[in-house]
Amino acid sequence: MLALFDSPDTFLVRYHRHHTGITSWALSRGRARGDLSSYDLLAELVPSQTPHKVVDLGCGDGYLIERLLARGVPTERIVGIDISPDELMLARKRSGLDYVAMLCERADRTTLPNDSTGYVLSHMSFMVLSKIEDVVAEIARILIPGGVFSVVVPSEAEPDGAAAAFFELFNEIYHSQATRAPVLGDPRTWTEAGLRGLLRYESQFDGLEFTHIDLCLDGTVTEVWNSLSARYEAYVILPQHRAQLRDRFMERARQLARSDGTIPCTLPLCQLVCRRANAKN
Ligand SMILES: C[S@@+](CC[C@H](N)C(=O)[O-])C[C@H]1O[C@@H](n2cnc3c(N)ncnc32)[C@H](O)[C@@H]1O
Repeated sequence: MLALFDSPDTFLVRYHRHHTGITSWALSRGRARGDLSSYDLLAELVPSQTPHKVVDLGCGDGYLIERLLARGVPTERIVGIDISPDELMLARKRSGLDYVAMLCERADRTTLPNDSTGYVLSHMSFMVLSKIEDVVAEIARILIPGGVFSVVVPSEAEPDGAAAAFFELFNEIYHSQATRAPVLGDPRTWTEAGLRGLLRYESQFDGLEFTHIDLCLDGTVTEVWNSLSARYEAYVILPQHRAQLRDRFMERARQLARSDGTIPCTLPLCQLVCRRANAKN
């Protein structure tokens, strides 16, 4: 097996250099509930004129921040944190984000003061962060007692339909190659039981609530392909394998097509909401 990168973080920074903005490009069109995207499920936790700071951890190209601003959360209350300078540069180009504080920092070691933050939100980032125990301690450090921590992460539930077909084909091709992407993140963030264990550590968080999200990504075959193929492991798929994967997926997807040409696609995600315990250790 060939490892192409020194560390998961080197891989992440390089991936986001070459695929800047890919996550919101792939997922922001998805609908979780009514007209709400999975980003909106996090944004709606914050009251419009909150007096508290709101941190977006692993903010990428700032799509969640844009949704917070659209809700009326004041610019000066929002902080975006990411290790990718390329993602932050793209975020700053979004309308209204030029005055939002954006820090190119690691989630496990930020420069934010103790007890400075009312909300820590994270969309599709928590499951790739390294040094996760330090990240959890960092979130507990910056949150005020009673402050809200919420993440949207992939669910451990099995996908079906177009997503199931895609992952089956993808895994076949990925495992036929010698080259692998590094394993990203901590496996405890991939399951509800793991997350519970991580966040109950030293009783720093309580009131943990998990909600299953069926993210509807129905669309044309190309739209669904774009959403599903935006994965870290796809970075090391050889071009000829990628073309093969696309052809095989298109063939399977066409069998699922409705009369209007769209195909059904649901991605299972999970939202965790909890609060910083009132008594700090
Ligand atoms: C899958 S993307 C999600 C981006 C954005 N939240 C979204 O959903 O559109 C994960 C993001 O986490 C960032 N990231 C990864 N490890 C990090 C770390 N240790 N500290 C801060 N950001 C990190 C990546 O650079 C990337 O922008």
